[in-house]
Amino acid sequence: MRRRDFVLGALGAGLASTGAFDSLVRNDITAQAAFARGGIPYGAAVRTDLLDTEFDYKEAIIDHCQIVVGEGGLKWIDLRPSQEQFVFEQPDRLIDFANRNGMQMRGHTLAWYGAMPDWTKTIASAAEAERELVHHITTVVGRYRGRIPSWDVVNEAIAETPMRGSVIRNSIWQERLGPRYIEIALRTAAAVDPSAQLVINDYNVENPTPQCRDRRKALLDLLRSLKDRDVPFHAVGIQGHLPGDLEIDREGLSRFVEDVKGMQLDVLVTELDVIDDKLPPNEYDRDRIVARRAGDFLAAIDEAARPSAVLTWGITDRYTWVPMWFKRSDGKPNRPLPLDASCRPKALMKVIDEFTRAAE
Ligand code: G3I
Repeated sequence: MRRRDFVLGALGAGLASTGAFDSLVRNDITAQAAFARGGIPYGAAVRTDLLDTEFDYKEAIIDHCQIVVGEGGLKWIDLRPSQEQFVFEQPDRLIDFANRNGMQMRGHTLAWYGAMPDWTKTIASAAEAERELVHHITTVVGRYRGRIPSWDVVNEAIAETPMRGSVIRNSIWQERLGPRYIEIALRTAAAVDPSAQLVINDYNVENPTPQCRDRRKALLDLLRSLKDRDVPFHAVGIQGHLPGDLEIDREGLSRFVEDVKGMQLDVLVTELDVIDDKLPPNEYDRDRIVARRAGDFLAAIDEAARPSAVLTWGITDRYTWVPMWFKRSDGKPNRPLPLDASCRPKALMKVIDEFTRAAE
């Protein structure tokens, strides 16, 4: 059942008697009522340009989501074509869409190694790097103050395979400022919008592998060092790009979330999808494994703390980043997301719906 039908059913029963039902704007029902109904809000990364060109894509976002985040738009590569310019057209369109449909918008992302415009390579000193980072965050978070309630302030700060001495991933920020770029970014965002939820977002903490174990430890060490210095931030974003061929480390992930919760931090699932390049070719079998991986992942988190939101990184298999890096050797399209390429719900959507509603 689509979230909208579920919500409409609940509302319809209540409103039919008043005859007010048909006067409600459908869009207002889906997201706002879903928020009102409780449970864990669900959302997805959105390719904003498609909202105006693909009706079924737009409908799917409206029908299922209470939260949206731009897959692009608020990255430096999108916002900052030059050192002098800020281009806000894409995030402005997405926040307008979110407001019109009673949805919240997440901001992704302010300090990352990725999607950086070439001109940032000319940032030559620590002083210049700090000036640029502070100016960027002040301008961007300031523009959306009170309208974007949650930001991925720092994205993927932990090295791919953290070893002794190089725990923080390299970036222009790390090169010029060292790890203190993280504190600078968080303190600046907190000063500009004290009401915003400030999130440190990362990945590969879910599986029973040495890499995930090392990354969990490195991330916890970072969080503790920031908390010890009273650096303002509120939550950890667990991206959740799950390798479909690997089990979920239920004990390791639950313990990680327990430790995060012990620091009075919230947890969000920010970019859930299941990378199915190594899964069987049969779509039915593949969809069931994808759904099971996600179910195990969500259950492991929930054993320790209820996530304050669950977002997938896209909503339909028609548009996913996964084949950029994980094309299937049999040439079959990847199926990492809750809706198929025709925007029809798959087993993964059912798992997410049941998980987010069970928390009502
Ligand atoms: O829009 C241009 C298009 O005009 C051009 O023709 C085309 C060919 O170069 O590129 C298009 O831009 C691409 C953009 O996605 C929009 O589709 C960029 O090359 C491509 O690098 C970019 O990839 C995005 C990637 O982040 C880097 O920003 C992916 O869509 C996006 O899903 C991915 O998302 C990341 C999260 O931000 C962080 N966590 C991991 C996640 C997956 O990698």
